[in-house]
Amino acid sequence: MKKLSNDIIELQPYLKQQGWLKPHEQIASVEVPGEGNMNFTLRIDTGQRTFIIKQSRDYVEKYPQVAAPQERVLREAEFYELIRTKPSLNQMMPTLIGLDKVNSVMAMEDLGAGSDYTFLYKSGKTIGEKELLDIITFVATLHTSFDANSVTAPIRNRKMRALNHEHIFQYLYLSDNGLDLDQILPGLKSIGASFSKDDDLKTKVEELGRRYLADGNTLLHGDYFPGSWLKTNNGIKVIDPEFCFFGFPEFEIGVTIAHLKMADQPQKLIDNALTHYKTLAKLDNELCAKFTAIEIIRRLLGLAQLPLEIDLGKRISLLETARECLIR
Ligand SMILES: Nc1ncnc2c1ncn2[C@@H]1O[C@H](COP(=O)(O)OP(=O)(O)OP(=O)(O)O)[C@@H](O)[C@H]1O
Ligand SMILES: [Mg+2]
Repeated sequence: MKKLSNDIIELQPYLKQQGWLKPHEQIASVEVPGEGNMNFTLRIDTGQRTFIIKQSRDYVEKYPQVAAPQERVLREAEFYELIRTKPSLNQMMPTLIGLDKVNSVMAMEDLGAGSDYTFLYKSGKTIGEKELLDIITFVATLHTSFDANSVTAPIRNRKMRALNHEHIFQYLYLSDNGLDLDQILPGLKSIGASFSKDDDLKTKVEELGRRYLADGNTLLHGDYFPGSWLKTNNGIKVIDPEFCFFGFPEFEIGVTIAHLKMADQPQKLIDNALTHYKTLAKLDNELCAKFTAIEIIRRLLGLAQLPLEIDLGKRISLLETARECLIR
């Protein structure tokens, strides 16, 4: 695999060879388009136009010691291919420009310099009602537009699911996982220890982990949280479906709701979002609530921490509610 860099001298012939730059085009500058952990992502600017390239490698870009499925960007590209037939989805996502399967590089439309919605985790920030409805309409449309039984080769993305499974359902329940939670927030460690010692809880978590790994008929984005939503001049856009697969919608919606809760969004807004989803698609409330609980626990006590501003008391209350939801 050719490892791309931000060196224009090396990039330019590569992009021409792929046909992503015309023979007469030159790279004027490159920049990192935004915060990302998993992949190598770059904005290419010719002075006349811009586009984004994304390369997935057999490790996590920010933590090179952590292995990751090398071909994950190919799954992401398959997702873009699949939704292309559905204009309402397509217009909220970047268009695929090209794919280099040999080196796991994707070229896509630049949605412009916007910011993702992780600012919602800052205290006092609230998402607009209309914005949230757009986010929910998108995902409900996604969930109701495809069926694993009627597409030629349903995306399974098993390797990415295995990676996610490890982080969501296993890692933080190991007693010696090496993560010092008190460094994240003093007082978290003892709570974390009580969760990793709770055998009733762990049994439930394992059961839900098996659900996550089971194939389903619904196409999921797979990582539907504020980091995958972009605020642009042309409205909300959705990016980064690298964890996509055909599974169960309750996992996806459960995750989304968990993030709204951790971002301390008004309960009424969260209720409206769920009600809106259910006017558009079917949902098992109880299963969805369990995946919300799972996501809250893994984000508060696991490795993939968020830039949260909620205090210890609020975190403990979310965690205890999550535990009760899972073991009841
Ligand atoms: N098509 C695009 N148009 C404009 N900006 C983009 C586009 N794709 C990505 N970005 C910017 O680059 C950032 C990183 O992209 P992306 O989330 O796809 O990478 P990632 O490595 O998969 O990130 P993560 O580790 O969070 O999963 C995004 O948050 C966004 O700011
Ligand atoms: Mg990603």
